[in-house]
Amino acid sequence: MPPVELMSALSHPIVIAHRGASGYAPEHTLASYFIAIQQGADYIEPDLVVTRDGVLVARHENEIGGTTDVVGRSEFADRRTTKAIDGVSVTGWFTEDFTLEELKSLRARERIPDLRPGNTRLDGRLEIPTLEEILALVRGVEEQRAVRARGLGLAPPEPIGVYPETKHPSYFAGIGLAMEERLVGTLERYGYRGPDGGAFLQSFETGNLQVLHRLTKLPLVQLIEATGAPYDLVAKEDPRTYADLAARAGLEEIAAYAAGIGPAKSLVIPRDGEGRLTRPTPLIADAHAAGLKVHPWTFRAESGFLPAGVDLEGELREFLAAGIDGFFTDQPDVGVSERDAHLVSGSSERSAK
Ligand code: G3P
Ligand code: CA
Repeated sequence: MPPVELMSALSHPIVIAHRGASGYAPEHTLASYFIAIQQGADYIEPDLVVTRDGVLVARHENEIGGTTDVVGRSEFADRRTTKAIDGVSVTGWFTEDFTLEELKSLRARERIPDLRPGNTRLDGRLEIPTLEEILALVRGVEEQRAVRARGLGLAPPEPIGVYPETKHPSYFAGIGLAMEERLVGTLERYGYRGPDGGAFLQSFETGNLQVLHRLTKLPLVQLIEATGAPYDLVAKEDPRTYADLAARAGLEEIAAYAAGIGPAKSLVIPRDGEGRLTRPTPLIADAHAAGLKVHPWTFRAESGFLPAGVDLEGELREFLAAGIDGFFTDQPDVGVSERDAHLVSGSSERSAK
């Protein structure tokens, strides 16, 4: 039997800071990412959209009315418009109608102030970051940590991973702002390349992951919603749904271009009619049989997001025991603590055998 340390390393679930430490600061800001890094997240997650001048910036969607102060900015009042985004009519302000310089004049706001009133202390104070600025932040922290470790005669610290998601890739390609080469090019400039390159790239669509598979050896993750179908498949009238992707045959197809899946957590452990967690589905075992990692989303501490009868710690314990390989969370501190407790308890059980 390999040593306990090796077994732990082989089954070490990763903590992915969802939109940064978005439970503690407005999502997709350098403050949110920095807090996540300090809390020990293994990866930070920027969702990416594109500006009019072709720059990748971190926002959950290209409509920015809900997460910036653009609504009150009279100089941009005439940018308000209605568009069809992935087949849905959306009214507001869109990143692709702003240059980077214009977007940089806006300030971020908390998306869910009623649930996270503490985060509003930072409303109006933080910029929308570019992907490049996020990578520079990571590099800066890594350099500082390396200097400190060297000074103390310690081993080099673990690198901080990035886990970018392309948002609305078909839509952006359709308006001449395709994301894939921009993303791979920016990551390569910062040294992210190869299957162990410190980054996972994710998408809810399938076609752009196949494009990325040709452009990079970085591992890719197919996101899977609990319902519906990938928009690129809908657009070309391909009848396959997310449920088809999550079935064994679908997982085999995903394994041809991706290293993992990112399923909605209800696909891993569903809830009963009273909102309590039930038994794990076969998804983890099926994905592992296809050679795929499983990184479900999204684990959040506020009660409205939790299963009945457990707190975030309890929910994470159930999912870790089910065998997930990592998870997206808005509270990376809780995630790290529960992941580490899981590793320690696994080590003790193995030592006792
Ligand atoms: O990317 C994994 C998870 O973040 C998907 O959900 O909507 O928060 O991007 P969303
Ligand atoms: Ca995401």
